[in-house]
Amino acid sequence: MSQSALSSAEHSDEKSAVTPALEARNLSAGYGKTTVLRDISFSVAPGSILAVLGPNGAGKTTLLRTLIGLIRPSTGEILVNGRAVTNTKPYQRRKLGVCLVPEGRGIYRSLTVRENLRLHTWRGNEKEAIERTVEHFPILGRKLNQAAGLLSGGQQQMLAVIRAYIDNPALVFVDEVSMGLAPLVIDEIYEFLGMISREGTSLVLVEQYVHRALAAADQVMIISRGQSVFKGAPGEVGDEVFAHYLDAGAPSTTDDTPSGED
Ligand SMILES: Nc1ncnc2c1ncn2[C@@H]1O[C@H](COP(=O)(O)OP(=O)(O)O)[C@@H](O)[C@H]1O
Ligand SMILES: [Mg+2]
Repeated sequence: MSQSALSSAEHSDEKSAVTPALEARNLSAGYGKTTVLRDISFSVAPGSILAVLGPNGAGKTTLLRTLIGLIRPSTGEILVNGRAVTNTKPYQRRKLGVCLVPEGRGIYRSLTVRENLRLHTWRGNEKEAIERTVEHFPILGRKLNQAAGLLSGGQQQMLAVIRAYIDNPALVFVDEVSMGLAPLVIDEIYEFLGMISREGTSLVLVEQYVHRALAAADQVMIISRGQSVFKGAPGEVGDEVFAHYLDAGAPSTTDDTPSGED
């Protein structure tokens, strides 16, 4: 830490000295007259990973849709890097470096890998997008002209998550990235997410595969029935909270739960 960073931390509360990459203040949102999210507040420190966990139907995807601008909140505020974006459109948030890797991958199965990458590229630099893709997922580089629908599930997820890297977005939301994937592929995807995090990208991971997300995260928020019921560090999630809200455990395709730690 530099001398000036040290002294500024001494002179003010350390947390408030850093502008969060993302801040949600008292967000409520839903569909039509149905309120799904109620009074959600949290922040994401720059370059950190927040895991948003909770039972099916809790409102996790609705939260991400609200954060990227697909749903207008009925109350509250959203700030990206200190700037209020609550009333902006998704493309305006994309310009600020906000990127969603959606549930179900959001790739075009009948288009080729190359065409999908072109659509991912916000700045239109297809050559760089392909270079960056090949660097991290060489298998995709060998399948550039193949229809995305012919890729394996793991390769389709690689194609989905690479959008979180090719344009260097500042803030990435990832919805259920390990859904339906084998453990080895999940490892590869999580290594990739760790890499972009170390390079400074701020991440919000929505996951059913609770253990993996907890291991990767700096902070955790658990939501249930649209409300935040826990916020803290992964190590602070007590057994009772875990059993009450997070019993979903691992994705259905895996049975690699360790039988004992030591
Ligand atoms: N497009 C929609 N229209 C109306 N209700 C929806 C829609 N999408 C989700 N919901 C409802 O919102 C609640 C939260 O769903 P969702 O955000 O998908 O939860 P999660 O991602 O945590 O499983 C659920 O009750 C769901 O039925
Ligand atoms: Mg969901």
